[in-house]
Amino acid sequence: MSRPRIHVPDLPMPDAVLARIAAEFDAVRGGPVPDGVAGLLITPRDKLTPEAIAALPASVTVVATFSVGYDHINIPAAKARGLIVTNTPDVLTEATADIALLLILAASRRAREGEAMVREDTWVGWNPMQLIGWQITGKRLGIVGMGRIGQALAQRARACGMQIHYHNRTRLAPAEEAGAIYHETLESLLPISDVLSLHAPATAATDRLMNADRLAQLPHGAILVNTARGTLVDDDALIAALGTGQIAAAGLDVFTGEPAIDPRYRSLPNVFPLPHLGSATIETRTAMGMRALDNLAAVLGGKPPLHPVTA
Ligand code: DGY
Repeated sequence: MSRPRIHVPDLPMPDAVLARIAAEFDAVRGGPVPDGVAGLLITPRDKLTPEAIAALPASVTVVATFSVGYDHINIPAAKARGLIVTNTPDVLTEATADIALLLILAASRRAREGEAMVREDTWVGWNPMQLIGWQITGKRLGIVGMGRIGQALAQRARACGMQIHYHNRTRLAPAEEAGAIYHETLESLLPISDVLSLHAPATAATDRLMNADRLAQLPHGAILVNTARGTLVDDDALIAALGTGQIAAAGLDVFTGEPAIDPRYRSLPNVFPLPHLGSATIETRTAMGMRALDNLAAVLGGKPPLHPVTA
C-alpha cells in the first residue's frame, strides 16, 4: 500500500516522531509544498494566511498543526477551501501549567535579577534587603480561562498555599472547581488578583484583553503571567505598568510577533521572559507530534480526524 504523501517542516523533532514519519509516510521535508502532497504537518511558526492557503496545491486536504493553539491558521479561509484542520489538545496541560508556576515564582522572587547578579559577578554578599520579592503563600491567584491548563495550574498553586480565583465563560462543576472561587466577570476578578495568570485562547474577543484599563484594575504591585498568547496583552500598556510599579513583575512565555518581540521587554529587569517553552518537555512534544501524525494518518486513511478544529 502506498504511504500518504505529507509535507513536514524542516525543524528538529523528537526521535520517535521522526521515526514514525519515516515509517508511515512519504514525507517531503521543508521547502515549498509540491503538488501531490495530501497532508501538511505545520507548527505555530507557519502562518497559514488566506494567501498561503490559496497558494497550496489542490492535492492538500488536511493540515495538522503540531500545537493546541491554531491562531496561526486562518480558519475561515481553510474552511472555505474545504481543508480539514486538526490540533493537539489535552497533551500540553501539565507541561504548560509547570511553566506558568515557574513564571509565577520567577517573577515574584526576582529570579532574572538574581541570576544576572551571579552571572555578571555583581553579587557582593548576603544583604537583608537584597532583591526582596513577594511571597506567594497566602496570595490570591486569579486565573483567566479555567480550562485544563488553568485547572492544572490551580492544583499546583493550591499546593503552594495560594487562594484560587478564576474567571471563565462558564462556571466549573464543584468537583472541578476544587474550592476555587468563581468570578462571573473579569472586572470582579482583577481587583482581588495579587497574581494574574492568563489561559485563554487568542481570539478577537481576547485581543489585548489586558489593556491599560484592565491592568489598572489589578491591585498595585500585582504579578502578571502569560503562557497563552502574546496578543492577550497590550505591550505598551504592560511596559508602562511595569515602569510605574502597578505591575511589580511579569513572567512571559509568549509575545506578540514572537520571536520578534517588543525590544523593551529585553531590558526590563522586572520581566522574566521565556521563548515559548510552555510545552517544551520531551514527553509533551513527543505526544504532540504523535497526535498530529494520528490526525494525518486518520484523515489520509479515509477516517474522520481525531482532533478536528471546529471553530
Ligand atoms: C500550543 O500548542 O499552542 C503551544 O502554545 C505550543 O507550545
